[in-house]
Amino acid sequence: MMSFSTLWSLLLVLFSTLVGAQRTFFPASIPLSIRSPYHNVWLISTNTSGSLSQSWPHFWGQQSIMGWSGKIRVDQTTYVWMGQDGIGNGSAVVTDVQITPTRSIFVMQAGPMNLTINFLSPIEPSDWVKQSFPFSYISLEAASLDGASHSVQVYSDISGEWLSGNRSSPISWRNTKTGNSVFHEIELQTPTANVEIANQAQDGKAYYVMASRPGLTWQIDTDTSTRNLFANQGSLANIESSAFGPINNPFFVFAIAVDLGTISSTSDPVTWGAGYVRDPSVRYTTSSGETQNRRPYFVSQYSDIGSAIDAFTADFTAAHDRAVALDQKIMSDASKVSSNYVDLVSLGARQTFGALDITVLADDKGNVDASDVKIFMKDLGTSLRVNAVERLYAAFPTYLYLNASFGGFLLAPLLESQDGLTGQQYAAQDLGTGYPLAILTPGTHSKGIEQSGNMLIMMYAHARVSGDGTLLAQHYNLTKRWADYLVSNTLTFDDQASADGENKPNMTNLALKGIIGVKAMAEISRALGKDSDAQEYDSHASALIGSWLSLAESSSQQHLLGIYGDQQSWALLYNIYADLLLGTKLVPQSIIEGQTQFYGSLLTTAPVFGLPIDSNSGQQSSAAWSLLTAATVSDDGVRNQLIQGVWSRISSNTTGQGAFPDQYNDATGAILSGAPSPAIGAMFSHLALTVPNTTIVVPADATSRGPGSNTTSAEDRTKSNIGPIVGGVVGGVVIIGLAIFGFIFWRRRRNLEDQYSEKVEFVDDEAHRPSLSPYNYPASQDSVPFPYGSAVPLAGRPSGSDAAGQSQYGRSQYTDPGVAGLGTPSIHTPPRSPSESSGYARLAYDDPSPAPVTTIAVSKAREAALNRPQHYHTSSISASSATGSAALTASSTDPLSPNSGSRSGAGSSISPTEVVSLRAEVENLRRVMQEIRADRFEPPPEYQG
Ligand SMILES: *[C@@H]1O[C@H](CO)[C@@H](O)[C@H](O)[C@H]1NC(C)=O
Ligand SMILES: *[C@@H]1O[C@H](CO)[C@@H](O)[C@H](O)[C@H]1NC(C)=O
Ligand SMILES: *[C@@H]1O[C@H](CO)[C@@H](O)[C@H](O)[C@H]1NC(C)=O
Ligand SMILES: *[C@@H]1O[C@H](CO)[C@@H](O)[C@H](O)[C@H]1NC(C)=O
Ligand SMILES: *[C@@H]1O[C@H](CO)[C@@H](O)[C@H](O)[C@H]1NC(C)=O
Repeated sequence: MMSFSTLWSLLLVLFSTLVGAQRTFFPASIPLSIRSPYHNVWLISTNTSGSLSQSWPHFWGQQSIMGWSGKIRVDQTTYVWMGQDGIGNGSAVVTDVQITPTRSIFVMQAGPMNLTINFLSPIEPSDWVKQSFPFSYISLEAASLDGASHSVQVYSDISGEWLSGNRSSPISWRNTKTGNSVFHEIELQTPTANVEIANQAQDGKAYYVMASRPGLTWQIDTDTSTRNLFANQGSLANIESSAFGPINNPFFVFAIAVDLGTISSTSDPVTWGAGYVRDPSVRYTTSSGETQNRRPYFVSQYSDIGSAIDAFTADFTAAHDRAVALDQKIMSDASKVSSNYVDLVSLGARQTFGALDITVLADDKGNVDASDVKIFMKDLGTSLRVNAVERLYAAFPTYLYLNASFGGFLLAPLLESQDGLTGQQYAAQDLGTGYPLAILTPGTHSKGIEQSGNMLIMMYAHARVSGDGTLLAQHYNLTKRWADYLVSNTLTFDDQASADGENKPNMTNLALKGIIGVKAMAEISRALGKDSDAQEYDSHASALIGSWLSLAESSSQQHLLGIYGDQQSWALLYNIYADLLLGTKLVPQSIIEGQTQFYGSLLTTAPVFGLPIDSNSGQQSSAAWSLLTAATVSDDGVRNQLIQGVWSRISSNTTGQGAFPDQYNDATGAILSGAPSPAIGAMFSHLALTVPNTTIVVPADATSRGPGSNTTSAEDRTKSNIGPIVGGVVGGVVIIGLAIFGFIFWRRRRNLEDQYSEKVEFVDDEAHRPSLSPYNYPASQDSVPFPYGSAVPLAGRPSGSDAAGQSQYGRSQYTDPGVAGLGTPSIHTPPRSPSESSGYARLAYDDPSPAPVTTIAVSKAREAALNRPQHYHTSSISASSATGSAALTASSTDPLSPNSGSRSGAGSSISPTEVVSLRAEVENLRRVMQEIRADRFEPPPEYQG
């Protein structure tokens, strides 16, 4: 007869099998701490190396280990929960991983304790002080599994690897105690501005912080002595070594531990903060040639890092509540599309914001002018281009959905830089190719239709969602010039390239972008009260779309061709998305239905990871363009299949799959570029279509203001843009959620909710609105550049939609519709071919970093040989050493960059025009090189061993 305990353990096994079976989302890389282009740390989570408790985190390019470890000591036995140093008695066992838009949550078992480790990289759409503070939270909770109390101490550290891709760089450090926090600050002894090595900047400071609390101890010492001390005694010595030296010889670590005493569960989370701060963050050259140092936005609020850190550590509970509310909002909106779609937005959100630096102007003394805000985007994962226009176009849905003002301040420097230009009929491609140096490169290029269309579409999209017509008014002549260029060039062409560098004549999708750009110009004119211009562009747009339809349709009139007249050609007509987004209704519904059917037929024979971009792109798939396309189709089945291709790619975890890539081989999944790219902001394509538009208002003094300066009255600034965010959640979510996820999932979700969300009630009244607490803003309210944190309803979209949001979130039976990876019903993952794995291995460290000027190859083995404990390296790392050595790429030795090397400023003998044209040549060459590389689908030569 079966004993009760046997029955009980059988039940337990059954239960855990059921529960375990629910995790269906296994991305190859999991975001751990992603706050800026240079604060971007991931866990490589593949079949061969993947558990947080047995691997080191990596910097985004994935060549470089980021020393970051965690341990827990339970009744004198020490378990590793992060890292691979082998110090302690073993590794905690990871039992679950959940990914939400702002969090990666790992559940583990460490002896008798159940651990929950929450990596929170905040997304703060409403508060740019917080959004621009490049710190993330790591919080740990523990609960006894056997009901008994245990003696528990917890530990975590970072190493100097956070500071440089050159691991022999000398560093220095200090420990500081403020009134409320303890923090370690680490910096390079000789920082270098505007240089990257292995994608890491060389001019930042790293921080490891914690709010002061009982039982806290800290230490700065070598990895082995610090970690062994904790493993042996459960506390640290509160001492810092003064033996400053290279990052890796020996590895020093910056540790904070907490003795929790004898507990059965933590009463509140133990929370570390990890920061990486560059200040100034961007150097921007204006159209008049002035070079500005731009500082991170948060310095407009905090004059010293200590007070910023104090505010950060004190804010954890509130920050976590906001994160949970935002996650619920995004995931419940996304769950109306599909559970796979929830996974895509969840994995993509942090990555999209991680490419941004939000900046304010500073003078020579560092005094900031908080009214001059600009945002810069690094073309992360692909190149060092600054505010790359087609990438911004791909990312735009995320910004529109969360706070359209992000989009406005990203466009502002592009527009301002081009205002003074004469002679160039079409829009520039970017602000240069040397992040963080932002400087426009005037000159000819082959993407005139692409980029002019992108700019006009984004400007109008930003204005109609934010209501802010300032940019439209300030740059009217410029946009008119671009629109005129489109009117004469967009219908037929033979010398234009698409966003992806294809340069066939008469590409249907590219032509459509130009036509929508002309229509956007009509709407821009109308918003500014220039009615005759509006009529003129309206009639151009309708003439163009008529001709386009007759040229673009297949002879069967069943679908659109990829290239006029080429009956074999086809394309993902992802630019139809802009027509829907802007409400311009140029493309007839019958055409959309024909395309939908056509995609459906292509999908029946599509490779595992979806359709390529078009019939000419070989096996090149784009996650971004697939998702824009998915939001255009008229059939949910076809939509879900398009989403499924991308989902299959990012939930496949064979070695080398990298961070969420934009472009990859549709059959092998091999990364072509853009891992991790901000273009992944296109995952929000469906959600952006739900954001309401509003009347565009142009402030009377718009054109007299400084470029990029803001536009909103102080009164308007108090209005919130959370309306569109929350307003999209309308009743019925609960029903849909229950229908989709089912009862078991619901039960499971409840547990999670208890753990994470019980305190959260989304009450969107003034008192609770995070953006409005007074300390978020610089002293002078007049200089605050945006209202809900920004954006604006100048004309005062009433916060009326908030009421809906409130009742929605107020419902007690509301179940969080999806912590990704947990509740997503299992959807068939197509089988993989055996040949894939070798393909992955070959491209495992494919990192198409662009424009390297100097390349120093350093073998991983050498790094390994240096003092790193031998168990430090993961199998995936040795696999990578076998296929190619990591490269250190110093990229800003560009003699032409205004701030590098000897040519710092005025003393140059080269005339400005010579510099400009020379620079244009160099930039164009680089672009050609990049395109050639992309075409060959090969890693750049410097990564080959
Ligand atoms: C990789 O994915 C498979 C399912 O495809 C899963 O069973 C496995 O646990 C995943 N590995 C890791 C390390 O997440
Ligand atoms: C461990 O904690 C998580 C919450 O973080 C919970 O969902 C899970 O059920 C717990 N595991 C056990 C075995 O109690
Ligand atoms: C825009 O163009 C008009 C007409 O050509 C001109 O009068 C006006 O000064 C221009 N505005 C700016 C800001 O350049
Ligand atoms: C582009 O299309 C137009 C209209 O069909 C045609 O006249 C022209 O020859 C095409 N251009 C090329 C290079 O094929
Ligand atoms: C929203 O857009 C639609 C279509 O472009 C337009 O008809 C409507 O007037 C706009 N609403 C507001 C408030 O501007």
